[in-house]
Amino acid sequence: MTYRGVLIGCGFFAQNHMHAWQSTPGAEIVAVCDRDPARAEQFRRDFGVAESFSDAAVMMATLRPDFADIVTTVETHPELVKLCLSHGALTICQKPFAESYAAGLEMVKAAEAAGRQLLVHENFRWQKPFRHIRAAVETGEIGRPHFLRLSFRHGHDIYANQPYLARVEELALMDVGLHLFDVARFLMGDVDSISCTTQRLNQRVRGEDAFVALLRHKDGAVTSVECSFDSRFGEERFPQTLAQVEGDGGSLELLAGYRLRRHGPDVIAEEDVEPPVPLWGTRPWHLIQESVAAFEAHVVEVLDGRAVPQPSGAHNLETLALTRAAYRSARQGETIHMAPFIAAGAER
Ligand SMILES: NC(=O)c1ccc[n+]([C@@H]2O[C@H](COP(=O)([O-])OP(=O)(O)OC[C@H]3O[C@@H](n4cnc5c(N)ncnc54)[C@H](O)[C@@H]3O)[C@@H](O)[C@H]2O)c1
Repeated sequence: MTYRGVLIGCGFFAQNHMHAWQSTPGAEIVAVCDRDPARAEQFRRDFGVAESFSDAAVMMATLRPDFADIVTTVETHPELVKLCLSHGALTICQKPFAESYAAGLEMVKAAEAAGRQLLVHENFRWQKPFRHIRAAVETGEIGRPHFLRLSFRHGHDIYANQPYLARVEELALMDVGLHLFDVARFLMGDVDSISCTTQRLNQRVRGEDAFVALLRHKDGAVTSVECSFDSRFGEERFPQTLAQVEGDGGSLELLAGYRLRRHGPDVIAEEDVEPPVPLWGTRPWHLIQESVAAFEAHVVEVLDGRAVPQPSGAHNLETLALTRAAYRSARQGETIHMAPFIAAGAER
């Protein structure tokens, strides 16, 4: 069976979505939509899609697809997600899921009311190196993990392809922080408390472009998350995240150049975990492009009833709450405990 899908938002990142859908067995994009009709039509031609629309409501009512892939910026998500769910579609929403916890909760409730699956396109956990690390942790290779370090620090000009990022008030935590918090939860479990400090290194951007966060997980493990969009290295590392996981039986190190070093009690082994470059892909984007393809293959498994959403909107709501808590911690200089913070509405 081939599921019929539509894509909404024909901008920069949606090109990766479209290429990946074209190589995903079991799914076909039957229409694309952008409020700018010229963009929608360009996508229709470039990707050989049957139809293009400039109004998502008209497209959903006309086609009633099995799934909808929303690749617009955050402020449009609540309206579009609720629209797609109301037409019975499994709905995928790009990150950031929502501008506020309240807006995210509204979408999760809409999915429950519609009885439809809602997924957030969180592709970092689908990156090949993190799939390998998770498998190693699950098989008990390093014993009980008690420490994780994630480091996403680079100097790549992200503002060239995404000029809106230079104008947003909330930058690094909302753009990449939530990816890293999702990976921390994926590898180490849910979080009890967080503290965070932010920096604005590039004075030409409005929001924070660097932060360091410390997460305490419910089982006592800790994660240190470092992120910067203004770091200088002789060899650019973008878009790689470096990682270190330590357990009571060994450690794993994800080093630059996709080298995964496994430290057992008395052995050190190194493995190359670089993802393949998709036929339609280019370096250094292949890390992200392959993860988009892996996520979309997962969506077909969810449509088939063979997998549960990784992650669902409900799961991602807690990641969003962590991001909101990180902002409060940075502002007030205090540790935020997640249970009371969420019970009080996660700020906004
Ligand atoms: N997961 C990742 O690795 C990753 C990477 C880059 C961007 N993103 C996310 O993808 C999203 C899109 O980013 P982008 O850089 O492609 O943005 P973009 O501005 O290039 O594209 C968004 C498109 O959506 C269209 N649009 C907006 N509202 C619409 C509506 N109501 N109906 C139809 N079309 C509408 C716009 O006209 C535009 O063409 C953002 O949320 C961003 O954070 C994710």
